[in-house]
Order: sequence, then C-alpha cells, then structure tokens
Amino acid sequence: MGKLLIVNGSPRAPRSNSRRYIEQFLPCWGETADRYTALKGGPLSSEGCTDLLLVFPLYADGVPAVLMRTLKQLATWGETPRPRIHVLVNCGFLEPEQTQPAVEMVRFFCKRYGFPWGMALRIGSGEAILNTPFSFLVRRSLRRLAAGIRAGRSEVLSVRMPLSRRMFIWASGRYWAGYGAENHITAREMRTMEIEGG
Ligand SMILES: Cc1cc2nc3c(=O)[nH]c(=O)nc-3n(C[C@H](O)[C@H](O)[C@H](O)COP(=O)(O)O)c2cc1C
Repeated sequence: MGKLLIVNGSPRAPRSNSRRYIEQFLPCWGETADRYTALKGGPLSSEGCTDLLLVFPLYADGVPAVLMRTLKQLATWGETPRPRIHVLVNCGFLEPEQTQPAVEMVRFFCKRYGFPWGMALRIGSGEAILNTPFSFLVRRSLRRLAAGIRAGRSEVLSVRMPLSRRMFIWASGRYWAGYGAENHITAREMRTMEIEGG
C-alpha cells in the first residue's frame, strides 16, 4: 500500500466542506494518511509519499488562490519518484461539470512539472449534499476514489444531488432565505453588494 498525503486547499480550511470530505474519505481509504492545510502553509513534504490528494473548492471557475501557493511549492518537490496527483473538487452549483476547468488546471500543472496524473472526483451541489439524504452517493464515490487511487487508475468520477435544476434552485433559495432570517437579513438585502451594514 502506498503512502498518501492529503492537502486541504480550502481558504476556510477548519470550517470547510473540503474538511468534511476528507473526514469521510479517510475511512474509505482505510489507512493512515498525512495531512497538510494549504491555508496554514509551512513546508510541504512527506517522505516516501506515493500519492497526493488535493481536496479543494471551486472558486470563480478555478483553483482557490491559497492552493496556488501550495502548487508553487509542489513545483519544487525534491523527492523522487514524484507522487501521483489526484483531485477531489467540490462546487456550489448543481453540475459537477462546472469543476472541469479547475481539474484541467491541475492536470496541466502535473504535465508541466512531471507529476503522474491520477483520479479526479467532481462533486456538484457540494455545499449542500452532505446535509441531505443523498450523502450516501458521496460516500459511494469516495469509496470509488479510494479504490482508484489504490489501483493506480486514472478516471474522472462525478457526483451530485439527483434533483432537477429548478428544484435545486428552489431548495437553495429556501435554504439561504432561512439562513438570512436567522441572522436578521432579508432575501432582498442578500441580493445587494452591501456585505456589512454601514
Ligand atoms: C469566492 C467564492 C467563489 C466561488 N465560486 C464558485 C464557482 O465559480 N462555481 C461554483 O459552483 N461554486 C463556487 N463557489 C462555491 C464553493 O465552491 C462552495 O461553497 C464549496 O462548497 C466551498 O467549499 P469549502 O467549504 O471546502 O471551501 C464559490 C464560493 C466562494 C466563497
């Protein structure tokens, strides 16, 4: 069994969905794994690491800036052989395909810096799905991701809530309106650019 390093590439790492995905992935992996938080920074190394899993959210159709910093460090990775890189990217929109540009960015990075490319798991409705009865679909995908990493495969997996777009927009609207109400903010106020009263 290889040695895995998991990178949390979320700008809000301690409270992130990425962290929740990592915690659900670990039992599927079934072995210990080293962990690194891009937000905290620090030296990035893991002796004998054979696989590296980048877990991050989609930000403006791309990779969050905090993860770019980690990629720059990875570009100077000293150990050989270089680990195989895998990604788990989640996004707020329903469609996992939205994450494809970010997957391609990492794939391009791997090609440019000589890292073997591995598995990709694209999670649509990634902000919400873990809090719904559809979370079992995520666990199933995480098991497939772990099996793919273990077998050295290179595949793109996708998962999302099995809802129509219309239903998803309606349910998200309801969720955010309720969340706003808890914080004494109306739906109308949330539609403005004003993020702090003043
Ligand atoms: C600044 C910002 C930009 C985002 N851009 C996108 C986007 O382009 N497409 C999308 O589907 N979700 C987008 N999202 C939603 C995040 O991908 C989603 O909330 C994700 O679950 C956050 O994961 P995390 O908690 O691990 O950081 C964005 C969120 C923020 C805060």
